[in-house]
Amino acid sequence: MHHFQYQQNELYCESVPVSVIAENVGTPCYIYSHATLTRHYNAFYNAFESMDRLICYSAKSNSNKAILNIFARMGSGLDIVSGGELYRGLNAGFSSDHVVYSGVGKRSDEIDYAISSGILMFNVESVNELELINQRAKNLNKKVPIALRVNPDVDPKTHPYISTGLKKNKFGIEIDAALEAYKAAYEMENIDIVGIDCHIGSQITQVKPFEDALSSVKSLEEKLRSLGIKIQYLDMGGGLGITYFDESPPHPDEYAKALIKNLKDLPVKLILEPGRVIVGNAGIMVTRVLFRKTGQIKEFTIVDAGMNDLLRPTLYNAFHAIESVRKFEGEPVKTDVVGPICESGDFLALDRYIPNVKNGDLLAVMSAGAYGFTMSSNYCSRPRAAEVMVRDDQYHIIKARETYEDLIRGESLPAFM
Ligand code: LLP
Repeated sequence: MHHFQYQQNELYCESVPVSVIAENVGTPCYIYSHATLTRHYNAFYNAFESMDRLICYSAKSNSNKAILNIFARMGSGLDIVSGGELYRGLNAGFSSDHVVYSGVGKRSDEIDYAISSGILMFNVESVNELELINQRAKNLNKKVPIALRVNPDVDPKTHPYISTGLKKNKFGIEIDAALEAYKAAYEMENIDIVGIDCHIGSQITQVKPFEDALSSVKSLEEKLRSLGIKIQYLDMGGGLGITYFDESPPHPDEYAKALIKNLKDLPVKLILEPGRVIVGNAGIMVTRVLFRKTGQIKEFTIVDAGMNDLLRPTLYNAFHAIESVRKFEGEPVKTDVVGPICESGDFLALDRYIPNVKNGDLLAVMSAGAYGFTMSSNYCSRPRAAEVMVRDDQYHIIKARETYEDLIRGESLPAFM
């Protein structure tokens, strides 16, 4: 459930008309509902009530400072994949000992930054990386907590670009090689084994792949225990899907139940790294219709948001519902909703029935809270959109629209020119 609803044919975010924000802030803009964000976090957190658990919100899904701050205040931890996300997280109020750090390509400076900050654990994705962390830890005179991210070879049945737990994916250490890798870690002087981690993919709409991954991880835990290697944290990653179109992903309660029933009696703290399920349906992107154009075989609705603002349709052929901010009578039209960018892949929807809007009307692209703004870019020198947070009848610009000066910040002419 989210807080974007119509009142007398006018789309509201909580108690604020979306059109008021669009008029005052301009378009395109992202709008997030505070009530939805907190509700989703609580629903997820409470679903695991019977477990000792830490929810590490996944920064990559939406890393705006105000959004991170909401979760930090609620006691959440943070899942990061870069030094930049660590910086954002600490700046937004997360305590460093609530941070877990995944990613196949951590640089030495990022490793040093995370070690010095005192994060909860590194989720290590290769033996090479393990060796580097050990060496950097030695230089800094520290013993560093790690989990190995294992790849359980489970098919999450999602888009190939966002499945991560298969043998052919670059992520983690193959489950068959994990025991040897743990043994190697055990011998390393500056490494402290504290956990096992896995993350099998994103937008997963069934429980089964999570259960399969858990069963692999559990049997690894048993083997480690028999070798005297004690695991404190079991990190099952993120990945729970949301409804964009007609998907019916498990409710967090159902997902939790499936995991918990297989975790009983295991004396570990459960870590989860949800992103999309918390923020996905808590945000929309609002765009204005610039022009309509009728071709011989296609109808186009040209809007002021492009693939640089919301990449998901272009990159994954992802479906986002498109609603008219002001509802009106009349037959819907079948149209491509396209952006201003010079690529045929620049679309928000293809052959979609939407209301028969005219120039200047506003459209809301739904379920855009996750992997929307964070994947946006300046392609075609388009300043990135503004982000707005609504709480009850108030709204606040949590990120100002970029300016033309922002576009050239840091650029300079070489002396030799
Ligand atoms: N943990 C790790 C290690 C991850 O790589 C991810 C997402 C998450 C947690 C959070 O997953 P979630 O709960 O949000 O599914 N850009 C794509 C999604 C890429 C996900 C990458 N990793 C999209 O727009 O669908």
